[in-house]
Amino acid sequence: RLHLNDVKFFARHLRARRHNSHKGSYGNVAVIGGARGMGGAPILAARAALNSGAGRVYALFAEEALAFDPGQPELMCRLAGDFDLSLATLVIGPGLGGSRAAHDLLAGAVNCGSALLADADALNLLAADPALQTAMAHRPAAVVLTPHPLEAARLLGSSIAAVQADRLAAARALAARLHAVVVLKGSGTVIAAPGGDAVINTTGNPALATAGTGDVLAGLCGALLAQGWPQWEAALAAAWLHGMAADVLVTEGAGPIGLTAAELIPAVRVALNRM
Ligand code: APR
Ligand code: MG
Repeated sequence: RLHLNDVKFFARHLRARRHNSHKGSYGNVAVIGGARGMGGAPILAARAALNSGAGRVYALFAEEALAFDPGQPELMCRLAGDFDLSLATLVIGPGLGGSRAAHDLLAGAVNCGSALLADADALNLLAADPALQTAMAHRPAAVVLTPHPLEAARLLGSSIAAVQADRLAAARALAARLHAVVVLKGSGTVIAAPGGDAVINTTGNPALATAGTGDVLAGLCGALLAQGWPQWEAALAAAWLHGMAADVLVTEGAGPIGLTAAELIPAVRVALNRM
């Protein structure tokens, strides 16, 4: 079945915040990434998770950890190796790099019981490791994968042209093979489930064609997972809200030229609260 993304598919999962709730009520997110020279990617994802309602957010670095993020001091910045992965919903991949250490972090994440979103370099590492793909496909906990067309092509062993020629088929094939909800990004993001359901997202515009917007999507979706959303609805809502935030910013004159990923984050928060 094919649908166009609509709030009616997921808005019921947005709960009013109970008066007597506390940060422990809204889940923990740990973003794992940040090879040397790539520290901005996990910071963007972690900021997006925090501004999307997660109770606590960790930014974990594969190599050198930042002491803290001066622009978002609420984030807890650590070395990934020092963190107990069972304590949070995991968003792995932004700026992770392709090192042996990065691979070992991914293997640890796949083999732990937490909900998991894999993006960017985590998908490239996964594409190169069939045993890890098998482990991913047999994971009991939630899995969301957010490839752009090149990352999807690497996972499928095909090409960008083949993926783009039939985006629905590519997303469905990946979802079935890895037993995950797949968000195939780009103009007309496709969200596919292992059973074959697929949805095309209707929000978003080319203001998003700038570095780091994918990291924001990953953090947003991770925050929804941490707040208890099922993986399918989390993926649908994240794609819709991310695009809606960009659409609103364009009406305000902040794009389509020159919008930045960091500016998208507060607009995502507004879209989520308005929803
Ligand atoms: N229309 C609608 N949405 C768009 C458009 C468009 N024309 N162009 C891009 N987007 C959206 C995508 O759907 C996606 O949500 O912007 C986001 C871009 O995500 P990525 O392609 O992952 O880009 P980026 O954030 O820069 O990735 C950071 O990770 O994926 C790796 O190699 C990549 O180094 C890069 C890093
Ligand atoms: Mg990306």
